[in-house]
Amino acid sequence: MTTRPPVEDLSPQQAIEELAALAAALDRANRAYHQADAPEISDAEYDELKRRNAAIEARFPGLKRPDSPSEQVGAAPSETFAKVRHARPLYSLENAFAETDVPEFVDRVRRFLNLPADAPLAFTAEPKIDGLSLSLRYEAGRLVSAATRADGEVGENVTPNARTIPDIPARLSGAPEILEVRGECYMSHADFAALNARQAEAGARTFANPRNAAAGSLRQLDPSITAARPLRFFAYAWGELSAPLADTQTAAIARLAALGFATNPLMATCTSTEEMLARYRAIEAQRATLGYDIDGVVYKVDRLDLQARLGFRSTTPRWALAHKFSAERASTRLEAIDIQVGRTGALSPVARLLPVTVGGVVVQNATLHNADYIAGRDSKGNPIREGRDIRVGDWVTVFRAGDVIPKIEDVDLSRRPADSVPYRFPDTCPVCESDVVREPGEAVHYCTGNLICAAQAVEKLKHFVSRGAFDIEGLGAKAIEAFFTEGWIREPADIFTLEARHGADLRGRDRWGEKSAGNLFAAIEARRRIPLDRLIYALGIRHAGETAARIVARHYGSWGRFAAAMQAARDHEGAEWAELNDISGVGETLAGSLVDYFHEPANRDAVARLVAELAIGDVAAPAASGSPIAGKTVVFTGTLERMTRAEAKARAEALGAKVAGSVSARTDYVVAGPGAGSKEKAARELGVAILSEEDWLALIG
Ligand code: IVH
Repeated sequence: MTTRPPVEDLSPQQAIEELAALAAALDRANRAYHQADAPEISDAEYDELKRRNAAIEARFPGLKRPDSPSEQVGAAPSETFAKVRHARPLYSLENAFAETDVPEFVDRVRRFLNLPADAPLAFTAEPKIDGLSLSLRYEAGRLVSAATRADGEVGENVTPNARTIPDIPARLSGAPEILEVRGECYMSHADFAALNARQAEAGARTFANPRNAAAGSLRQLDPSITAARPLRFFAYAWGELSAPLADTQTAAIARLAALGFATNPLMATCTSTEEMLARYRAIEAQRATLGYDIDGVVYKVDRLDLQARLGFRSTTPRWALAHKFSAERASTRLEAIDIQVGRTGALSPVARLLPVTVGGVVVQNATLHNADYIAGRDSKGNPIREGRDIRVGDWVTVFRAGDVIPKIEDVDLSRRPADSVPYRFPDTCPVCESDVVREPGEAVHYCTGNLICAAQAVEKLKHFVSRGAFDIEGLGAKAIEAFFTEGWIREPADIFTLEARHGADLRGRDRWGEKSAGNLFAAIEARRRIPLDRLIYALGIRHAGETAARIVARHYGSWGRFAAAMQAARDHEGAEWAELNDISGVGETLAGSLVDYFHEPANRDAVARLVAELAIGDVAAPAASGSPIAGKTVVFTGTLERMTRAEAKARAEALGAKVAGSVSARTDYVVAGPGAGSKEKAARELGVAILSEEDWLALIG
């Protein structure tokens, strides 16, 4: 999210503009969430937009828009379902994120009711279920309608679908004549995982999280689809009633349970703020083992006569508060530590977790980085997490921000099982059992099995066929694994002889058949012609990423020249070694890694078998003579406004210029942005041409 000025600093004009932008953004988010069941922003981002909107409105009450997002609950109902007007609106809940918000809420309630601080006041505390709300109307004990919330006033009629949910009784005995039961429709973790597996198997869309799965399953025009989806329902509130259910929230929920509804077993009655917070922590601690998603704890004033006196604001009751859990973190149990072996032999420890939803995504795996990280120290031996190590069986905090791989941030020693033991990083490869080594100064352990290690071989093959490399359509990670196990593909060259050796087998194989086998062989044929840079990258040599491969390929131009140079430089000395090290963008690490790779006879042989199958395209050196800066030496100084320093350097080099760090008589241009100092001065003294960023861009076109 972009950083915005503090609300205190906004001018009225800025406030008007931002309120309009926020109304549009929230409207869009509501529609995506409620109508398409496909959220576009995370809950945390949504809450942040709402909070910002409320803060600006609080400072400029006169600028509040007629369509203010703070007056709306959700989106208007989607067009495909019949509409139901709720007899009583469905309200939303005021959110709190900090513990200090809880005593403030209690004080506010007391002040409103004019209750002295020592007068008893009870609250219920219960999990906030992360599903979608549903209002069920019973008349004379029969379910007559079921409606989603939609905008809180008018919902969608999903009655036939609700009738297929086992937790929702079709008939009640002993209920008031008119009874509207409200609660949350949700899906358990286990059912969600099974549903997604079935969807994936059938080639249908899978769901990001159990809530989307529940919404997508309930909001089906064909109730037989809903019936096949395992939905559940917890009752936690009510709408219109012909007779009261009870005097307190606690007793009313007990009454609903007695009528046959599922109610949440973790609900408790609390008589103080301390008890409320203790309940919050207890529920949070159980979050990962509940088997369904919750995103906070809801507190409600227990006495219903007090609820009636407190009443409602425009969209939320004054008698309730939703105390949300942090959006990016959750605690869960570490079930196992697995070691994955990458294509370079690097061993990566992966945490296998009790599944938990973090920021709207179900997390079951997280990175543990390396042995030091697990032991509680950084690569220099300094303590991290105050030296706390991570053990199998521990309760850990998982952190997830955006799309990055989830991390284990901390460990809760108070919940550590008494019989746990420190984790021992393996000293042999879990796949090939070769010794594991750790180079001095490096954090990573490597398997020494190289060519005999099946994990390395498979990962190398996966890399070989990946996007920036050979990019062979129809030959993904799964197929590589299967063909490797089968013994059909053991090294890259085997891909190009696959049809000759196993064409008939594959055409007759389950899930393949004539057509997809034919497509695969055509895709493989199409890649026999490959540019040199892609080939170098595809070999998966350590440190030779896409950019490095391109730089090297451009320098040598052809496979013949490249291979000869690698051979000649094998002892890390001589003219070819110096030439390789002099290439701009090639450091000693990359140079060493390249020549060592080709020095290894097994690699050389495998590459020779591969090259025999290919037609390798030459790569033209960049900066053909047309470039105005080819061969020139350029120095950048000061701040660049249109691009980063790295981008400017890359572009200059792509056009054949050499980028230097200091100004000398050999410098051709100094590109000086604001804040340029000594380098610009030196250029002036030496008579070197000084260009502004604009001049520079004009020069390179
Ligand atoms: S009470 C008048 N209790 O959270 C108050 N709501 O963010 C009615 N929710 O619209 C709501 N668990 O869909 C209540 N234990 C719970 C809940 C709960 C989940 C949902 C409900 C509500 C939304 C507000």
